[in-house]
Amino acid sequence: MTTTPVDRSPRTAVRWAVTQGLPARYLDRAAREGDLLARLLRDPGCREDPHPLYEQIRARGPLSDSSLGLVTASHAVATEVLRSEAFGVGWDRSTAPRWVRWVLRATDDPAASGVTEPPSMLVVDPPDHTRYRRLVSRAFTPRATARFEPAIEAIAGSLLDRLDHSGPVDLVAGYAAPLPVLVIADLLGVPTDRREDFLRWGEAAAVSLDPGLPWRRYAEAAASLREMHRFLAGHVDRLRRDPGDDLVSQLVGRTDDPLTDQELHAVVMLLLGAGFETTVNLLGNAVVALDAHPDQRDGLVRDPSGWDRAVEEVLRHDSPVQLTGRTVRTGTTVAGRALPAGARVTLLLGAANRDPALFADPDRFDATRANARDHLAFSAGIHYCLGAGLARLEAVGALRALAERFPGLRVAGTPERRDLQTLRGFARLPVRLR
Ligand code: HEM
Repeated sequence: MTTTPVDRSPRTAVRWAVTQGLPARYLDRAAREGDLLARLLRDPGCREDPHPLYEQIRARGPLSDSSLGLVTASHAVATEVLRSEAFGVGWDRSTAPRWVRWVLRATDDPAASGVTEPPSMLVVDPPDHTRYRRLVSRAFTPRATARFEPAIEAIAGSLLDRLDHSGPVDLVAGYAAPLPVLVIADLLGVPTDRREDFLRWGEAAAVSLDPGLPWRRYAEAAASLREMHRFLAGHVDRLRRDPGDDLVSQLVGRTDDPLTDQELHAVVMLLLGAGFETTVNLLGNAVVALDAHPDQRDGLVRDPSGWDRAVEEVLRHDSPVQLTGRTVRTGTTVAGRALPAGARVTLLLGAANRDPALFADPDRFDATRANARDHLAFSAGIHYCLGAGLARLEAVGALRALAERFPGLRVAGTPERRDLQTLRGFARLPVRLR
C-alpha cells in the first residue's frame, strides 16, 4: 500500500491560505447567514442530496443573487450563458485586491499546477482555447472514439474476470475506477503499470475542482500534481525519442504550431482530470440508480439496446459534474438582468438537468425518458465536453458487460458518497455479484 505524499512547503501553504483558506472562511460565514450557494458548497449535509437546496434556488427565479455573484438552476439560462460569447471561463486576476495578486504571483508554481489553472483548456478563453481544442480534438472525432470500443470491451472483461465472487466487493475499486484509467492510459500512451499512480493523480485533479479545500487535502493534491508533472516530463521525453500511435506522441511530434512542455502537461493533466473521476462517478451513479429501480434494470438485462438511453438518464438525473461557472467578458443581459463585465455566474448543471420546464416529473429516474439527452451534464458551447463520446462509449460498454456477466448484482450495504461538491459520485460501492 502506498502512502499519500503531502506537499507542506511554505509556498504551498501560503497559496492554500489565499486560494482556499480565506474563501472557505468567507463561504462558511455566508452559509451561516443563510446564503444558499455557500451552503451548497460548504455544508456536508448537502452532499448526500443537493436537490432540496437546488429547488430553493430555483424558487428564487431564473437568475438570483448569491455570495459568489449570480446563480442559476434554470436549464434555459444555463444554456444561454454557456453558449454566449459575452461570457468566458477565465478569472481576471486584475480584479483581485493588490496584495492577493502579489501573493498569487509570488506562489505561482507551474510544477504543481492543476486543471483549474491556465494553460488548462478548461479555464482559458479564445484565442488560446481555440488553439488547444483544435489540436486535441482530432483524437476525439467519432471515428477516433469508435476505435476504443474493442479496448473498452477487453478491459471490462478482464476486470470482471478478476472480481472476487465470495462476498461483497467494492465495485468502485474493482471496476468503475480502473476501467477509465486504463482507457486514458491507452489514449495517452502511458504504461499500464502506472495505473495506481494514475488513480491517485486523477483523484488529486478532481479534488482541486472544489473551492475552499481543507489544508491537508490541498497539500496532498499539490504533492500528487507535482509528482504527475515529474512523470509527464519523463513521459514526453520518452515519446519524443520513441513515439507511439497515442495522442501525446502526436502532440509532441507536431512541427507546425507545437505546444510548449507546460501546455502539453496541461492537456494531459486535463484529459486525466476531466476524463477519469467523471466517468467513475457515472458508472457508480448508474449502478446505484438501477439498483433502486430493479424493474428498469431487469428491462435492460432483457433488452440491452436500451443502454444508450439509460446512460443519458443517469447523466441527467445524477450528474457527475454538478456545477460550473462563467465570468461576463463584455456587459450583457441575461434573464432580463443587465450584467457588467467581471460578474460571475454559477451554473448548477445538476439542477438544470431537473428543470421541470424541460423534463416532465424531473426527480423520477426513467431509463426510457425520450428527451434525457437534452441534459447539460457535458456542458454546452465551446467548452462542451471533448470526451463526451468516449464517456458514453465507456459507460454503455462497461454497464452492459457488467449486467451481462452479473444480472443478479445488488448493492450490499450503504454506498459512500465522495466528499466533493463539484463532482458527484461514490467513493465506495459495496455490491454482491449474485
Ligand atoms: C461522464 C463522464 C464525463 C462528464 C460528466 C464530463 C463533463 C464535462 C463537463 C461538464 C465539461 C465542461 C465544464 C465547463 O463547461 O465548464 C467537460 C469538459 C471537458 N471534458 Fe469532460 N466529462 C466526462 C468525461 C470526459 C472524458 C472521458 C474526457 C477525455 C478523456 C473528457 C475530457 C474533457 C475535456 C478535455 C474538457 C475541456 C473542454 C474544453 O474546455 O473545451 N471528459 N467535461
